[in-house]
This record gives sequence, structure tokens and C-alpha cells, in this order.
Amino acid sequence: MKITAEARSNIALVKYWGKRDAALNLPAAGSLSLTLDGLTTRSTVGFDTALTADRLRLNGREEAGDALLRVSRFLDLVRPRPGLFAEVESTNTFPTASGLASSASAFAALALAASKAARLDLSPHELSVLARQGSGSAARSIFGGLVEMLPGARADGSDSHAIPLAGEAAFDLRLVVAVVGQGAPKAVSSRSGMAHTELSSPLYPAWLATVPGDLEAARAAISSRDLARLGEIAEKSALTMHASALGASPGLLYWRGATVEAIHAVRELRRGGIQAYVTIDAGPHVKVLCAPSAVDAVVGTLAAVPGVSQTLPCRPGAGVEIVE
Ligand code: PMV
Repeated sequence: MKITAEARSNIALVKYWGKRDAALNLPAAGSLSLTLDGLTTRSTVGFDTALTADRLRLNGREEAGDALLRVSRFLDLVRPRPGLFAEVESTNTFPTASGLASSASAFAALALAASKAARLDLSPHELSVLARQGSGSAARSIFGGLVEMLPGARADGSDSHAIPLAGEAAFDLRLVVAVVGQGAPKAVSSRSGMAHTELSSPLYPAWLATVPGDLEAARAAISSRDLARLGEIAEKSALTMHASALGASPGLLYWRGATVEAIHAVRELRRGGIQAYVTIDAGPHVKVLCAPSAVDAVVGTLAAVPGVSQTLPCRPGAGVEIVE
């Protein structure tokens, strides 16, 4: 039986950066994100007694090495019995060469397709726990719209999963992605970047201490549909996360010149009365939260920044789903 599922990427407004348990991939603190329409992974999984090993095709290309190993380890979590292998076919609808391919949509789609193919009927919370073990941010892509990740307290991670806060139709926001550079040299992955920050940055505890207050303020801003407040928190959370990474030894600098110029340009827009707020992940790209009415101004401003190669306006997107 082959099952196909689709999931969308998400961008954190209150960032996840640090783990309490690396083996189970348990976050040290909560986080809060917006699932995005358009940045989608479609994943088909089928277990097959004729196979002698797992197989992975990514965007039409047969994969071996680390990518296959990571998927095989993940399949171990749902495999009906040892020695029963699966064929996985995964395709991203991300614009080619944008450097935006994300583990969030990939492991959320894989969690649903693989668990169904293994004839497991997991609840959304259980799916989120499963997806988390592939990638921390994937736990959030199980749900649409605005989503909160609960760090949980249990050692086995069974209470470390995402919950939906406001569905994709509840708060009409836009997030404009500004792609910086083209096929930039591979950044330090978020996985190793956060481990390095935890181990060597004196600013890591200070960063972690900001998360509970930011989460509380972000929840309140969402309840009152207050874009300005939510945006201010998002920008502060991203800058504080990057400050902790910069304080590592050696310091981790994900930004390029165009990243900094884009931040200035967005702040200039704000001075002109347009509500727009930046967030940045483990790479050079800048993502700007704004109202639907501000999209044209934000796109125009970002596209004019030298070094920005592409702008992608995204709407809130749905949670993971089975597709026929
Ligand atoms: O899910 P991971 O392990 O790729 O970590 C994601 C880390 C950030 O994107 C930088 C922040 C976040 O909360 O998504």
C-alpha cells in the first residue's frame, strides 16, 4: 500500500534554538510559527517485502549517504517489523535553487505518509511527536496557520509536540521571503549550529530565558489579532537567537551583507508607517511578516536590495494531509 501526504513549511516567529535532549530531539524551550502555503513537500511511502533496503528519491534523484540514513532512522520509528523496507519518493514545490528546502515540510509529510503506510492511525499530537524526531520544526508543520510547539517535561518526549493556535483562515497575515544570493555555500545546519551555540555561547542561557515571555506575548498578540505586537516579538526573537549564535566560539554568522541591508530597508518601511517585521533562520534569507495590504510595498522594497535574488509572498497554509 502506497500513501502520499503533503505538508507545508513553517517559519518560526518565536524561534527554536537549543535542545534538552539531542537523541530524542527534544527542544529546550517552546516556539511559535506560521505554516506557509506554497512551500510544500509531497511524500509517497510504501513498505515492500521485495526490498532489501530503504530507498529514497528526492526531487527525482536517487539518494544515498546521509539523507537516506536520516530517512531510514526515521522509518525505524514506524516500521511494521525489522527487515521490512520502504520506498520513499519526496518532491518539493520550492522554487528551484532558492536554498529554501526545509526539513520541516519534509519530515511532516514523511511522518503522515510513513505512519499510514505502516497502518498506524496516529492522532495529530502523536504525528507531531513523530515528526519532531525527524526535525524539531517539522512537529509544527503538522498543523496549519499559527502553531505553538510545547517543549514538554517528560523524559520520553511524549508531551513534546505542537498545538494549533489559530487556523490558516483565522488571522490573515503574509510572509514575504527574500532569497539572498543564489545557491549560497552550504550554511552550518540548524542542528549543528544550535549544538555549537549550546556548548560554547555564554549568551545561550540569556537567549533561552527570553522564550517564555515572548511566547506569552505572542499568544496575546494572536488572540487580539495585533500584527504590530506579533511582528515586534518576532523580530526581537530572531535577533536574540542570532545574538546567541554570534556569541558562540567561534561565532556563527549566518547573515550576508544583503541580509543586513534588507533589515534596514524593512525598518525604513516601518518608519514610513508600513507594518513589516523581519525574521531570519539558520541562513542568509530574510522573511518579512506583514498585512496583505502591505505585500506590494514589502516586495518592492526587498526586490530593490542588491543581493536579493527573489521575493516570494506566502499566505498562511494548511496542516499536513493525505492526497490521493
Ligand atoms: O527543525 P530544525 O532542526 O531544522 O531547526 C529549526 C531552527 C530554526 O529554523 C532556526 C528556528 C525554528 O524555530 O524554525
